[in-house]
Amino acid sequence: MLTVRLFGDPVLRRRARPVPAVDESLRALARDMIETMHASRGIGLAATQVGDLRRIIVVDASAGEREGEAFALVNPRIVATAGSFTDEEGCLSLPGLRLPVRRALDARVEGLDLAGNPVVREASGLLARILQHEIDHLDGVLFVDRLPLFQRLALWFRLRRLRRAWRAAART
Ligand code: NI
Repeated sequence: MLTVRLFGDPVLRRRARPVPAVDESLRALARDMIETMHASRGIGLAATQVGDLRRIIVVDASAGEREGEAFALVNPRIVATAGSFTDEEGCLSLPGLRLPVRRALDARVEGLDLAGNPVVREASGLLARILQHEIDHLDGVLFVDRLPLFQRLALWFRLRRLRRAWRAAART
């Protein structure tokens, strides 16, 4: 089990580095991330959220309900999008917060699988949303950054409180 970093942790704002080669240490990270995501009842997790700045995400739209649904994507890139839809979103790094976010409805994502082979995923709806959310994490972007300005302002005090709580915990 890895520790999921919480809002306020500066690592969440870092940009992750491309993975030059898929190796055993990356596969071990992917296994630990999937275990952590399932234990947290999450549907996606980016390495950034466990303090590792390699570009890898894990996704399971079934939250561990369906066998074989979880997968990892290395160096994921959104190469095409279409449409848009708004739906509630949350994040394991921002527990307790769920807000409507506008995202592309369809997304084509390219990357590598854990064998190092190129893969293309044509995703729609929830899966497209998860991929966009997790790839954002690799660029230091959180879903609250995607909210309209008035909603970000409404959240300001709450986010400041979370940042202060993180700093207080980091000192101890
Ligand atoms: Ni997240």
